[in-house]
Amino acid sequence: MAVKIAVTRETRAGETRVAATPESVRKLIALGAEVTVAAGAGLDAAVTDQAYLDAGATIAADAASAISGADILFKVREPSDAEIAALKPGALFAGLINPYQSRPLLDALAVRGVSAVAMELIPRITRAQAMDALSSQANLAGYRAVIEGAEAYGRALPMMMTAAGTIAAAKVFVMGVGVAGLQAIATARRLGAVVTATDVRPATKEQVESLGAKFLAVEDEEFKNAQTAGGYAKEMSADYQAKQAALTAEHIKKQDIVITTALIPGRAAPRLVTAAHVASMRQGSVIVDLAVEQGGNVEGVKPGEIAEIGGVRIVGFANLAGRIAADASALYARNLVNFAGLLISKEGALAPDFEDEILKAALVTQGGVIVHPAFKG
Ligand code: NAI
Repeated sequence: MAVKIAVTRETRAGETRVAATPESVRKLIALGAEVTVAAGAGLDAAVTDQAYLDAGATIAADAASAISGADILFKVREPSDAEIAALKPGALFAGLINPYQSRPLLDALAVRGVSAVAMELIPRITRAQAMDALSSQANLAGYRAVIEGAEAYGRALPMMMTAAGTIAAAKVFVMGVGVAGLQAIATARRLGAVVTATDVRPATKEQVESLGAKFLAVEDEEFKNAQTAGGYAKEMSADYQAKQAALTAEHIKKQDIVITTALIPGRAAPRLVTAAHVASMRQGSVIVDLAVEQGGNVEGVKPGEIAEIGGVRIVGFANLAGRIAADASALYARNLVNFAGLLISKEGALAPDFEDEILKAALVTQGGVIVHPAFKG
């Protein structure tokens, strides 16, 4: 029997993305699935019900009827309580559920007997690259951070030579050079800014330089070992953080736009920009804090707002990828199509290989219990 996949409208406030696009619906059907989309699910990402219908999906009146009988529910974020209740035991769920901060959700999914996949936990191995939602969304968030920064900044980014005189190029400083930071550097460079960047992982130095930006960091012994085997940053010692703050203090003073993206998996975001740093910046400067949902890299950042402190604007918009919803949805939906390849047999039946290292790494609940070692007990 063909596997039944449901996609519903996001229930989290302000979430504009959707887990399927007409393109992904076609691809899921080509894998042998039947796809049901809840009415209006794509509207915030500029996808109409008619476009899903044209792609071969069925439109259900609401989330409960879309989910009824479904083998798989795909979402961008967590399912609502009503959606969990509508899932049949043994069904598979996949979404960005923020597993480190969502214990009650994990318990609810387990109790319902759902096999829940946290898309954040897809391992960063070559075979899983096309399923890597953290990367696809961070990439667009990095782009959007520069656009938001440019918007809040009352001046131009490129150098301009006009008959009335020259305008200097803006100085942009990117702190944290993962996927989002690299895209922020590339975007700021395309807009003509003079770009510098910092990170605690040594591998980033060459990446920064290859994008035409200048690298700045405390390059001591701790820095040389700051990257985990998984490619992520470690939490740095208090001593390193003090040295880092001293180095960046002088630099931040002279910047027009600072973009912070620093994260450590499973931990609060490191505080990179202090109130003193903010106070040292010129009137009209801008800081964009991409880490706001994990506590923020910047002292004084307000989630969902632009805070103004001493003439410096601190942009704290959550979910920057959601501010470019059509593209973010398209990339996320492709991540899910590639992931669905692990769940569906050649005959189009639901046949997840729970021994597959990708599925194993991202599966948090199954058979009534929390199975992921990071969240057990
Ligand atoms: P992330 O979102 O976890 O963190 C963003 C950046 O913040 C990282 O570069 C991290 O080193 C940096 N950071 C942490 N603490 C800091 C501090 N105190 N000061 C300055 N910077 C700090 O990182 P993301 O974007 O998820 O990338 C993590 C790694 O995964 C990178 O090595 C990236 O190249 C790699 N990656 C590998 C992929 C693959 O092979 N399939 C796909 C995507 C990323």
